[in-house]
Amino acid sequence: MNKKVFIKTFGCQMNEYDSNRIYDSVKKIGFIKTEKYDDANCYILNTCHIRDKAKEKVYHEIGRVKKIYNKKKKPIIIVAGCVAQAENQEMLKREPYIDIVIGPQSYHKINQVLKNFSEKEKKEETDFDTIQKFDYFDKIKNTSNKISSFLTIQEGCDKFCHFCVVPFTRGPEYSRPFKKIISEAEELINNGVKEITLIGQNVNAYSYKENSKIYKISNLINELEKFSELKRIRYTTSHPRDMTEDLIECYSTSKKLMPFIHLPIQSGSNKILKLMNRRHTVEEYLDIYNKLKKINSSIEFSSDFIISYPGETEQDFNDTIQLIKKIKFINSYSFIFSPRPGTKASELELIDEKISKERLLKTQKILFSQQLEMNKSFKNKLINVLVENKMDGQNKLFGRNNYLNSTIFKGDKNNIGKVVKVEIESCNQNSLFGKIAHKNMKAA
Ligand code: SAM
Ligand code: SF4
Ligand code: F3S
Repeated sequence: MNKKVFIKTFGCQMNEYDSNRIYDSVKKIGFIKTEKYDDANCYILNTCHIRDKAKEKVYHEIGRVKKIYNKKKKPIIIVAGCVAQAENQEMLKREPYIDIVIGPQSYHKINQVLKNFSEKEKKEETDFDTIQKFDYFDKIKNTSNKISSFLTIQEGCDKFCHFCVVPFTRGPEYSRPFKKIISEAEELINNGVKEITLIGQNVNAYSYKENSKIYKISNLINELEKFSELKRIRYTTSHPRDMTEDLIECYSTSKKLMPFIHLPIQSGSNKILKLMNRRHTVEEYLDIYNKLKKINSSIEFSSDFIISYPGETEQDFNDTIQLIKKIKFINSYSFIFSPRPGTKASELELIDEKISKERLLKTQKILFSQQLEMNKSFKNKLINVLVENKMDGQNKLFGRNNYLNSTIFKGDKNNIGKVVKVEIESCNQNSLFGKIAHKNMKAA
């Protein structure tokens, strides 16, 4: 009989991709995926360590699982992801309910660890074996058939921003072989995938050398462009330092690359960017923005902001606000600085909590109003939407426009996987609402 595995995923797109690949792997040793919390023989928690209390969230979640399985047979409990990498042995000592701790660069060992599992022996796998990991997964079919799917091209980070744990949890930068990425993309397209988002911690730092040719993310985009069944290409998360001319050029040559870029800046103050070790200035960021807008004025931006980084004065904060107003980001993430163990910024003096909360509120108020303004601009217009699925329990479809806005509309489910024109009737901050347009109407 098949055993069932349940994976709960926190964190970024990379964790989402990894969880799917873990499913692909454990399937080979007889595990099937269950969506039910209380029905698993193996429970995997794929964790994120990026901000505060990450560790506590994990123990809290394990406590919940313990209660659920109180009167049932205990499943094998695996903690995976970035907290697993950062905390490793500590977790096994603190919470005996956990059986296995496995870091992101050791997932190729998961089948072996499960096959050899013994209730009496706890296991920890946290080596940085990135090459072996990708070699292993290259031999396992990617079964994702979501209309919009992620594809990891690069992992890890060498930039060491002073606030960030990623270089410690994901290890050094590694770019996958060009041909392996393209064959995985082909697999996805054969599964029915219509939109591929290339992902990596520094996705545009992708660089792979073979026979003296260096392949960049621009080469991947150009190659993906050739698949006629693929309708859209995106990438995330990019770093301003790696927005090279060849990538910028793709916005004039590619018909499938979407006109929406998530390009984190973190702060609008050069002083703070320097303190963060971001290695780019506000002016360099604006230069990228201007170049892209010149190529195509409909390109829009979203970003990440860290509010109240140690040393941020009222003036520095106002510089961030001015930048947000100037660029008119259409969708962004903002969080108060959270000291992470082991990072350079963890020892610095924090800004008063009340001031930080006020700054965050002010930032989000502006970001959210810009988002709403953008959404309102679609009202009574026709927009192109890639239809992803039928909504649960509703007679409506769900899809996304070029700018990743959720769009909910009336229409036939035969449209799933197609790019259709939707007439927008109303909106809120997060979503657009409408109906499929008559033929012959032209999208704005
Ligand atoms: N590599 C991307 C870049 O450099 O822009 C970002 C990747 S990181 C996983 C995602 C976001 O988390 C960052 O852009 C930053 O805004 C946020 N972040 C990272 N460390 C943080 C910290 N210590 N406190 C608050 N936010 C943090
Ligand atoms: Fe973290 Fe900076 Fe690397 Fe992004 S570039 S993953 S923020 S260290
Ligand atoms: Fe979190 Fe690790 Fe992603 S810390 S944001 S899951 S790379």
